[in-house]
Amino acid sequence: MSSFWSGWIITIVMINILGCAALLWWTRRMPLDHVDEDNTTGHVYDGIKEYNNPLPRWWMWMFISTIVFALGYLALFPGFGNYPGMLGWTSHKEHDIGVAELEAKYGPMYAAFYKESIPDLAKDDKAMRIGQRLFLNNCAACHGSDARGARGFPNLTDNDWLYGGEPDRIEQSIRYGRQGAMPTWGPILGDEKIKEVANYVLSLSGRDVDNALAAQGKIVFQTNCVACHGPEGKGNTMIGAPNLTDTIWLYGGSKSTVIQSITQGRQGRMPAWLDRLGKEKVHLLAAYVYSLSHGNAQGSM
Ligand code: HEC
Ligand code: HEC
Repeated sequence: MSSFWSGWIITIVMINILGCAALLWWTRRMPLDHVDEDNTTGHVYDGIKEYNNPLPRWWMWMFISTIVFALGYLALFPGFGNYPGMLGWTSHKEHDIGVAELEAKYGPMYAAFYKESIPDLAKDDKAMRIGQRLFLNNCAACHGSDARGARGFPNLTDNDWLYGGEPDRIEQSIRYGRQGAMPTWGPILGDEKIKEVANYVLSLSGRDVDNALAAQGKIVFQTNCVACHGPEGKGNTMIGAPNLTDTIWLYGGSKSTVIQSITQGRQGRMPAWLDRLGKEKVHLLAAYVYSLSHGNAQGSM
């Protein structure tokens, strides 16, 4: 805050407090020479006379105590322009204290969870309840509160994985994030070849397609796509290339959507969470995600 605004605030605060004091002074009992003999001020309205009575005492004291409180508060806490207050209170410090308290309270619990393996943790009901809360707060915006995903955001409950469903692969996905990189084929292949390869891709999951186009498309696929999606189109979890032979689609399995995926490319982005949540919470979340497709101890999933 610049010293001008600091001075501005100090001025307004002082005008308010002094104004309060002035008001008190002004409403005191008037000097006797202004008053009529019957202790009225001479003002009459509608037959009602105004008496020269002081304000009630409790009201006076309330006013005085608010002034004292205001001065005391401004001495101790920030509020008087740039003056930080004698206690040195700041909202940052308050926040840090709150975080440290939470850390002291829950830190040992997360540390204990961190020592357990992901499959074991996934069977721990209490841990999974906490994991679910973390998931709802941090992940549900993209993956949905039921973790079933949406277009472009993978379903985490179906045991079909872009990057692998082994415990450490899931943990890695959450720790460091993931970046899908499907190239843009429109300018390279042109509409005709894209139509052919799309027919071939759809034939891989047993869809009705134009067989002549699909046969042409197979050649296009062998030349351009196997490096990532594999010779049989079953994908590659090292780079998150989806399996194209099942009926699960990240972006949609209609012919027009598949053509769009190939023409424009796709770049799904999963954020990294290690810095934001710390390794203990990431571990717990990995166990929660793992539990969604493996069932917990009660087999309730
Ligand atoms: C901003 C949206 C967004 C948020 C928030 C988000 N994710 Fe993701 N997540 C994605 C996307 C997009 C992908 C797929 C990346 C790709 O297409 O390559 C993904 C992929 C994943 C994967 C890999 C899935 C697979 O099939 O291999 C896991 C596991 C995962 N997310 C868990 C989480 C968890 C746990 C959280 C919360 C801490 C979270 N995500 C928060 C967008 C998000
Ligand atoms: C450099 C590696 C790479 C190459 C080469 C590649 N792809 Fe992909 N492809 C990916 C990745 C990674 C994704 C997932 C993108 C994401 O997660 O956002 C993907 C996604 C797709 C999708 C969407 C799948 C879905 O579930 O919605 C289709 C369809 C597809 N690719 C077809 C092809 C075809 C056809 C070719 C060859 C012309 C090809 N890809 C070449 C890496 C590649």
